[in-house]
Amino acid sequence: MDDLKKFIRNMPKAELHLHIEGSLEPELMFALARRNKVEIPFATVEEVQDAYQFSNLQDFLDIYYQGMSVLLKEQDFYELTFAYLTKMQEQKVIHVEIFFDPQGHTDRGVPFATVIDGITRALNDGLEKYGITSKLILCFLRHLSEDAAFATLAEALPYRDRIAAVGLDSSEMGHPPSKFARVFEKAKAEGFLAVAHAGEEGPPEYVSEALDLLKVDRLDHGNRALEDTALVTRLADSQIALTVCPLSNYKLAGVTDMRAHPIKKMLDLGLKATVNSDDPAYFGGYMNENFEAITESLNLTKEEILNLARNGFEASFCSDTEKQAMISRLEAYGA
Ligand code: ADE
Ligand code: ZN
Repeated sequence: MDDLKKFIRNMPKAELHLHIEGSLEPELMFALARRNKVEIPFATVEEVQDAYQFSNLQDFLDIYYQGMSVLLKEQDFYELTFAYLTKMQEQKVIHVEIFFDPQGHTDRGVPFATVIDGITRALNDGLEKYGITSKLILCFLRHLSEDAAFATLAEALPYRDRIAAVGLDSSEMGHPPSKFARVFEKAKAEGFLAVAHAGEEGPPEYVSEALDLLKVDRLDHGNRALEDTALVTRLADSQIALTVCPLSNYKLAGVTDMRAHPIKKMLDLGLKATVNSDDPAYFGGYMNENFEAITESLNLTKEEILNLARNGFEASFCSDTEKQAMISRLEAYGA
């Protein structure tokens, strides 16, 4: 295992499922709370960690939205994003596709421009200082209305050159993809790619809806698709990628034992699964910790680890030339 851990840590990787607000570490949360004079209900890192015990997605989301309340200024979004990229550089992650939740900020009076300017300034610095390439994905909060999503899409249009795709996140149950079919149709007509969280807690029908109604180019999570054999065949045939988040599934109790995590089964079924961290500051691990956890609990081989990493590059929204360059780096490393 020590050899495989070392192999994972030095392996070139891509992350395709990361909520930038979910990378807010307690130390930065405290610093920003002080700087911005925002009250948070924690006094110590230990108190924060005690609060990070979740029994489902909603439990987590309540704490996650509270945490992001310390983000007010462009510089705050910059520091948040640059801290994540610094971590990724340490973990040999060479390409990232990150989500942001504009409605989590604009609903608190923080302008859309403040959010996206801070994030993109950090992404530009990440490229310049670390050579990390990136794409930005705007997520609509599915517990809010279709009208609110349309308004957010309108706010995003002046920034379309900075945003690769739209996505769908937040409380899944009771908020099926069908609720946002028209918003995604408009976003696709405007030239955005599309992804959506589906099958994290929601039933396989939500995964089918994401494919049929939202016409997603990639699926976030997708775990519960395994309950429907016809859907599994469809995902295997189409090679639509799944951005799987192992430690997230464990922390949100979708998986109660890491030895029962479905990612190996997904590979065995021919699904294009990738490894990602989701909200690493809340779930106890970034990319390497996620790879290490599944490698240990599922006894993954070096070939399986390389396959997962290759899937990450192939499923990215980069050009074929860019993908090939990253895959060549991976292959050189594996050999
Ligand atoms: N927002 C941040 N993390 C999320 C997750 N795992 N599922 C849905 N919405 C989210
Ligand atoms: Zn997510």
